[in-house]
Amino acid sequence: MKLFCLNNAFLKRFLTVPTILLLVAVAPIAAKELRWNWDQIDTKQVAFPHSFIWGTATAEYQISGAQRCSPSNWSRWESEARLEPSADACDGWNRAIADIELLKQLGVTSYRFSVDWTCIEPEEGKFDVQALNHYVALCRALRAAKITPMITLHHFVHPLWFEQLGGFEKQENIRYFVRFCEHVFRALGKTVPFWCTINEPGVLIFQGHIRHCYPAGVPGGNGFRRAAVTLKHLLQAHVEVYQALKKLPGGKRAQIGFAHSYLAFEHFHGWWSPGKSLLERTISGILSSFLNDSILDFFRTGNYRLYVPGLVDERYADPHALRALDFIGLNYYAHVFLRFYHRLQDTVHPGFRPGDHRTDMPYGFYPEGLWRAIAHVAQLKVPIYITENGIADAKDDRRALWIERYLYAVNKAIADGFDVRGYYYWSLMDNFEWDMGYSQKFGLYEVDMVTKERKLRQGAQAYIDAIATWKRAIHYAK
Ligand code: BGC
Repeated sequence: MKLFCLNNAFLKRFLTVPTILLLVAVAPIAAKELRWNWDQIDTKQVAFPHSFIWGTATAEYQISGAQRCSPSNWSRWESEARLEPSADACDGWNRAIADIELLKQLGVTSYRFSVDWTCIEPEEGKFDVQALNHYVALCRALRAAKITPMITLHHFVHPLWFEQLGGFEKQENIRYFVRFCEHVFRALGKTVPFWCTINEPGVLIFQGHIRHCYPAGVPGGNGFRRAAVTLKHLLQAHVEVYQALKKLPGGKRAQIGFAHSYLAFEHFHGWWSPGKSLLERTISGILSSFLNDSILDFFRTGNYRLYVPGLVDERYADPHALRALDFIGLNYYAHVFLRFYHRLQDTVHPGFRPGDHRTDMPYGFYPEGLWRAIAHVAQLKVPIYITENGIADAKDDRRALWIERYLYAVNKAIADGFDVRGYYYWSLMDNFEWDMGYSQKFGLYEVDMVTKERKLRQGAQAYIDAIATWKRAIHYAK
């Protein structure tokens, strides 16, 4: 999850008279910030159900880099946007089987990873048997180690040929993604019980079409409209893949969902500073409708609507969406405190609440936000898996606290009656953080990017301990 600065050019497009009027109307009902008193909380007092799934996650491109495969939207973007090259990242592809030892050392019971479409279908319609067999072998080895695989079918990366056809911006291209997913499912359906179709559709379009820091086809046009159309197609693609996989052998048994990044936006200023507060609330409302509401409403009601007065009004209805989720994957990192500054270049900028613990990313700790996110996605009435949550912490002096507090939030949500069935820490190891290159250290394992050596971080011990405590509790309960 990334954050952003909203500069003047951005604001000028955003703040039309109708947008402001709309937001003046809805701003007063914005959710109140929830805060717990951490001084009085014992994070060791937690209890997780016997069936709880403990996992960690990666994505192929982030651990294997561009060098491994045929050209993709991302490999082209790395040079176009002059990013730090991903190169061979952590050499994840070649070490996939050996890395199972890392998972064992943590004690996790599941591993979420992505299959790389670019490697499996380097040319349209031509499938690489060896690439697919690589994943077959990985899944078998995971099962042998009693680690349940969860596969992500699209984690921000797709083949360049698909991008050149217009990617998800064109509705007629959805069929290519469906065909790819069917192909993978035929090979892996027997060994893999959990499937995430698409990782963070909202983030994908926001970073691509609005912030322009992820690849998003040929630049130009109305970014908001293009984002709204692409998001509609991504959601449609999920529904089509869901239906297609359900028809294949083993499909009925498979648990299919997608990973949603829940980003809550808060306004920094209160009504004592009405101008600033209104601006912050306006932008929060618009961003929330792009990144949260339009997506969740689609699966809750079967109707998709992305409406920003004067900018975009995109609608779509599909009743099948109501039955297209066996679970919802929730990726949660932070809430964003939008704060107005008197600066030309970044007028509205993520801010921090005084006293908040910081991460190396431009956001602080807010475990209460994970509880809120769970309560929010619970409206879908399907099981919830926390498919990503973790901290960038190069010094490794806050990771343990993060893990303890966020696990406490998950535990509290379960105690409050929410159906949370698993938690995946992001990430197993340090990796390529997209437009931020290798600067962010999310790993439970530190990776030396030259020798590729993996080393367990001390902060990871909090996760190992939590899992071991749960295992002991289960053992004694037997
Ligand atoms: C993405 C990951 C990324 C993580 C940390 C999520 O939005 O799914 O690929 O590394 O955030 O920023």
